Amino acid sequence: MDDHRTLPVPSSLLSTRMPFEPLDYSHAAGSWIHLADGRRLLDASSGLVCVNIGHAHPHVLAAMERQARIATFASAGALRPAVQEELAVRLTEAVGRPSDAVSLTSSGTSAVELAVSLARLVQRGRGEEGRHRVLTARLGYHGNSTLALGLSGHRRRRPHPDDALGLAPAFDPPYPGHHRACPFDTCRAECVEEVVKALHEAGPETVAAVLIEPVNGTTGGAFTPPPGYLAALREACHRAGVLVIHDEVLTGLGRTGLPLGADHCPGGEADLLVLSKGLSAGYHPVAAVLVAPDHAEVLRGGGRPLPLMGTMSATPLAAATGLAVLDVLREIGALAPGRVRGAEVGDAVRAATEGLAAVRRIRGVGYFHAVELRPGTQAAALREAREAGLLLYPFNGFEADGGGEGLIVAPPLTVTADEIDFLTGALRGALARTAPDRNP
Ligand SMILES: Cc1ncc(COP(=O)(O)O)c(C=O)c1O
Repeated sequence: MDDHRTLPVPSSLLSTRMPFEPLDYSHAAGSWIHLADGRRLLDASSGLVCVNIGHAHPHVLAAMERQARIATFASAGALRPAVQEELAVRLTEAVGRPSDAVSLTSSGTSAVELAVSLARLVQRGRGEEGRHRVLTARLGYHGNSTLALGLSGHRRRRPHPDDALGLAPAFDPPYPGHHRACPFDTCRAECVEEVVKALHEAGPETVAAVLIEPVNGTTGGAFTPPPGYLAALREACHRAGVLVIHDEVLTGLGRTGLPLGADHCPGGEADLLVLSKGLSAGYHPVAAVLVAPDHAEVLRGGGRPLPLMGTMSATPLAAATGLAVLDVLREIGALAPGRVRGAEVGDAVRAATEGLAAVRRIRGVGYFHAVELRPGTQAAALREAREAGLLLYPFNGFEADGGGEGLIVAPPLTVTADEIDFLTGALRGALARTAPDRNP
């Protein structure tokens, strides 16, 4: 299935479509989407892997309403950003980086761009005027702006070569089948050598930062790096004077069962950290870049203007929403370090997929799992899943030849035991009915 495909459905909206009609819905609550015809579907990928605390959570709705009555907008610079200040403090505590500075914005893409700008400013503030390049992995996604797409290793979404600003991903990530020159049976921390090579090729004195997803999101589907990889990456980058930016737009704030995806591969803390989906939880656009204290000091003392804020960068409504989402995440234990949550979701995915002809392999961690499918089965699997009462997010294009099909299973972090039982049964039934010979 091609996620750029459009259907000839009469509509004034120019938007990406699935290869079948969108569903009419009446409302969404908790883990469920209620359809106009009275049926309901389990939102088994949390929307676009963002509705992490379920839909219509009363605590968040109440906080949004309260803030809306006070002020939805307050001119940045002219009015004291009290709610935004509170969010900055709470966010840094939530991810165990209490001394960081925070810059707020409105989407994952704009936060990635902001992190890139801040990294370049830090380098220039340190007297490294020539460091502007950003190196990224050949499997990864960082957003839909021209810059972010140019840096993203998403084969189906690569911009036209004329439009890519001369940008392209630079190194193979340490995932089976994607590290093409891997000298080991399976990737190890030493596979960071690919990044070192890319730094040399680019000329390390021109590189500002390496930008990576610590746990791969929906490009390859939930790949995790080998133990020690992020620490080795940090060491190699710092040796070369290069900053590390972690894109945790999708994984941050509990999706992988720990506060950060990078917590699964400790010792490689980022210089700059990008968060968004987990913070907005799909309620209101909000995103953040966390900056390690040394770098924040350079930014504050450098005498150079910080990147311009956009009009809707950090509204009080966005901040109040983020604060309420953090309340809920803390209450459900999603921000507690140490114990990986969500094992029951992994068990469900294993039970649902075992021995099925349509399934090639599965992987994942916490509340974030990928089911790789046999070629030609994705559209049928999505259709069968809908029939069985599941809404799932497709991913594709991760193979070297542009093929590769899969489904993301990523229910809200608030999913109940009964809902997981439903998920297991419905997914197994749907995939069992998805025989490769029933290709579209
Ligand atoms: C890892 C990652 N980075 C960046 C983005 C872009 O975020 P947004 O769609 O909010 O602009 C996404 C979105 O899916 C993502 O998964």
